[in-house]
Amino acid sequence: MTFDRTLKIAPSILSADFADFGAEIRAIEAQGADWIHVDVMDGHFVPNLTFGPAMCAAIRPHIKTVMDVHLMIAPVDPYIDAFASAGADIITAHAEAGPHIHRTLQAIRGAGCKAGVALNPGTPAETVAPLLDMIDLVCVMTVNPGFGGQKFIHTCLDKVRALRALIGDREIHIEIDGGVDPSTAPLVIDAGADVLVAGSAVFRGGSVADPAPYGANIRAIRAAAGT
Ligand code: DX5
Ligand code: ZN
Repeated sequence: MTFDRTLKIAPSILSADFADFGAEIRAIEAQGADWIHVDVMDGHFVPNLTFGPAMCAAIRPHIKTVMDVHLMIAPVDPYIDAFASAGADIITAHAEAGPHIHRTLQAIRGAGCKAGVALNPGTPAETVAPLLDMIDLVCVMTVNPGFGGQKFIHTCLDKVRALRALIGDREIHIEIDGGVDPSTAPLVIDAGADVLVAGSAVFRGGSVADPAPYGANIRAIRAAAGT
């Protein structure tokens, strides 16, 4: 992975057909996805359950772009090697998931992956200040994590601006996760984001059998973002 700050759309397979992930991933990449965002939930850190490392390993061969694994689990550390072995390019852990985010980020890089830190809506930008030399991505949650299709929380925009200033010219992506659609994309791009996760806004209206709406949805977000 080479670093650049051009806009990247990362569809979340949380909104895909769970019975057909391989075909959904091939379809969404053919329709213009830049990364594939994989939401791992444990029913403990967040009030929902999705899938684990075995599922990630199974879908990996279908991903030609970047496998962006968002861990909404606690604890994180016992599972890092399993997600790295499953083929994750990026592993993102939540700052709120335990007392030792610094150690967790070290372990993610130690396992050969890019390291991301995610911040819930109630967690301030300054949390990442001591971590800037050990992260490749900050994921700003613009909904409370756990479910797709929730409403974008506008107060998070100030946090994106603060992060952009903190990051300066370091090679750290700012990823936005939750409620991204053509109406909110320009706001987060203006505030300094470069990776947009989108679940419902990308997958709505399409299917493996009729994937053209996926492409139209991705292009609508890009056009709204002005890039
Ligand atoms: C929420 C997940 C998101 C979610 C985004 O906990 O981390 O990735 O799937 O879904 P939308 O785009 O529908 O808000
Ligand atoms: Zn996510």
